[in-house]
Amino acid sequence: MFSMSRTWSRACSSVLAASALLSISAGHSYADDAEAGLLAFNNHCRQCHSYKKDDNRLGPSLHGVVGRKAGTMQGFANYSDSLKNSKITWTEDQLDKWITNPEALVPNNNMKPFPGVADAEQRKQIIAFLKSQSGAGDAKQSAK
Ligand code: HEC
Repeated sequence: MFSMSRTWSRACSSVLAASALLSISAGHSYADDAEAGLLAFNNHCRQCHSYKKDDNRLGPSLHGVVGRKAGTMQGFANYSDSLKNSKITWTEDQLDKWITNPEALVPNNNMKPFPGVADAEQRKQIIAFLKSQSGAGDAKQSAK
């Protein structure tokens, strides 16, 4: 009897541990990343970029940038030849490289001064946020 209840409680606690793990990983969602990404975007990018459609500032609008060809934002006059000729398409992977160190990806670009975002988690959040700013439902438009 004693050993049975020990087994039972061990089984029980491992179920508990497993469900705790599950709820942690389920709790960290894409939406959370996008939310945190707005803050990181404001810290690192906003002085030069807007995420609103057609809103070019010192840098081109980043509305819908995920999936866009580099150097093609209509009406933005400050592209470097290097970026225009780069033939890059802004996948999440390329964006990650770009905001880690633009000069390493495209030498002689115009995105300056920009120290890079060293923190991989913040880069991921910024990219999740940009990805969320690409369609009709643009959740965060009003947050600005
Ligand atoms: C100091 C101003 C400045 C800051 C800060 C800055 N950018 Fe830029 N960004 C630019 C300029 C200028 C360009 C155009 C670069 C070129 O043509 O070489 C650019 C280009 C880009 C492009 C290419 C867009 C396209 O249409 O091809 C992306 C993507 C981008 N920036 C993302 C970011 C992100 C994300 C951040 C923050 C992590 C950031 N930038 C911070 C000024 C800035």
